[in-house]
Amino acid sequence: MDTLVKLVLTLGLLASTATAAYHRKTFKDYCSSVDGDSEHYMCKDFVFNTFDHIELNIHDQSISTADLVQFQNCTMRKFPKIFFKKFHWVVYLHINNCKLRNITNPDKDADNLENLERIVEMNYRRNQIETLPNYYFHYFSNLAKLDLSYNAIKEISSSIFEYAVGLKMLYLEGNSISELAPDAFKNILNLTSIVLSENKIKALPATIFKYNTKLSLIDLNDNEITFLPVDVFNGLTNLEFLRLDKNDFNTQTFTPALLNLPMLTHLNLSNTELKINDEMFSKCSNLEFVDLSRNNLKKIDVHIFKGLKNLLQLHINDNDLSEFDFKNEIFKKENFELQVYENQWKCPYLRDMMIYFDGKKIEHRPPQDRFVDILDYSCLRGIKCYGEFNYDKYSDFIEGDVSAELAEHISGQVGTFIATIIFLTIFAVIAIAVIVVLVLQPDFIMGRFRRTQSAYRGNSFENNSEILSGDQFVAP
Ligand SMILES: *[C@@H]1O[C@H](CO)[C@@H](O)[C@H](O)[C@H]1NC(C)=O
Ligand SMILES: *[C@@H]1O[C@H](CO)[C@@H](O)[C@H](O)[C@H]1NC(C)=O
Ligand SMILES: *[C@@H]1O[C@H](CO)[C@@H](O)[C@H](O)[C@H]1NC(C)=O
Ligand SMILES: *[C@@H]1O[C@H](CO)[C@@H](O)[C@H](O)[C@H]1NC(C)=O
Repeated sequence: MDTLVKLVLTLGLLASTATAAYHRKTFKDYCSSVDGDSEHYMCKDFVFNTFDHIELNIHDQSISTADLVQFQNCTMRKFPKIFFKKFHWVVYLHINNCKLRNITNPDKDADNLENLERIVEMNYRRNQIETLPNYYFHYFSNLAKLDLSYNAIKEISSSIFEYAVGLKMLYLEGNSISELAPDAFKNILNLTSIVLSENKIKALPATIFKYNTKLSLIDLNDNEITFLPVDVFNGLTNLEFLRLDKNDFNTQTFTPALLNLPMLTHLNLSNTELKINDEMFSKCSNLEFVDLSRNNLKKIDVHIFKGLKNLLQLHINDNDLSEFDFKNEIFKKENFELQVYENQWKCPYLRDMMIYFDGKKIEHRPPQDRFVDILDYSCLRGIKCYGEFNYDKYSDFIEGDVSAELAEHISGQVGTFIATIIFLTIFAVIAIAVIVVLVLQPDFIMGRFRRTQSAYRGNSFENNSEILSGDQFVAP
């Protein structure tokens, strides 16, 4: 009896000690300041089931100055209860790579409204969010930056961002968005950047950006858009960056009305199957960077660039061009960058082009990872060319004047080549030596072989044959 009481008491004591220890865990057991910055806390390996047991000492001076808390690689499928009450000091909230599925706060009443209004930045990048609750952003009235990239969102309905009126930056890349409500961003009047790349958007509603006249960046890279309504970018008088690359505009006409964007400086139309329209850039006269690469273009008439006085960079690489008016006035600017690699240039044509580029200081070198294999192709400065190729005539463009990278590339190739030759030579010498020995001294070698054979037969081999001829192995 006595022992039983003792046991129960001990167990009780142990349990309460354990529970006390568990409850005593504080924020700082999980989170530490980043580089001694008292305003930035990083929390890792956090399991949110235990979240309710964390004590946050609101009087802790070192936490009270913090405003950015970042959870990384945690496990948190649901949103924790009274999160914003506990983290009432958070202004910038990051929950990244935490398997978060449901961001609905199950206990919104307990989260004081003022705590929600404090949030300026919310970053739920790399989670598993599929649906966004309607009106979710209603209470986050000061939210300016929202990052929901790399989740599993399929649809943006008209009610999701209805009250997210303070948003300036919205990142939705890397989701599975195929449906965009025509008025999805209608109330976000201060929006300056929207990133919708790496989604499955097929149709962009004509009115989608109608009210977002402050937009300066739109990224629609890597979607399935086949058609842009003619007025979709209408009135975007502040737009500077537009990425439409990696879509399929096979039947699209890029009319001046479509690209009526007076402030546009960067336009990426790479990998879009586009058809060039003579007037397509006539209403975006501020363009500085234009990418028309990877479009199977056989011909580009330079008159399409004629009004572009600020043009500094043009990419026409990865097309099927064999001619291009590279001597045009438009490109006669010091340090103009003209990317021309991966086309159908004839070698003499490419050589003339590079002599001209050198004289006018036009940049034209392909990125290092795009240097062609010089042992497989005729190539001038890493740019592939076709037809007649005369090493003496082109030596300036192969060795004399090559950039350090290409020289390194060549010496790497030559190094491999020399190593192969040396290896083959050594191999051949050994092979010849063996043959010579076999041919010239057969008696010596055969003699040794015979001696070995007889020695073998004299011992184990003959013993083995005795066993083999034993009764059980003889056929009946
Ligand atoms: C989270 O995981 C990523 C990728 O596995 C890693 O690069 C990062 O350092 C991790 N973060 C923390 C705080 O452990
Ligand atoms: C998300 O959580 C809320 C609150 O716990 C719940 O009401 C809602 O049904 C959940 N949504 C999904 C899609 O599971
Ligand atoms: C939009 O920006 C303007 C100017 O910065 C500001 O006065 C206004 O309050 C903002 N609107 C909202 C809804 O945040
Ligand atoms: C355009 O986008 C492609 C990817 O689709 C990228 O490789 C290229 O660098 C971009 N062009 C410019 C000028 O930034």
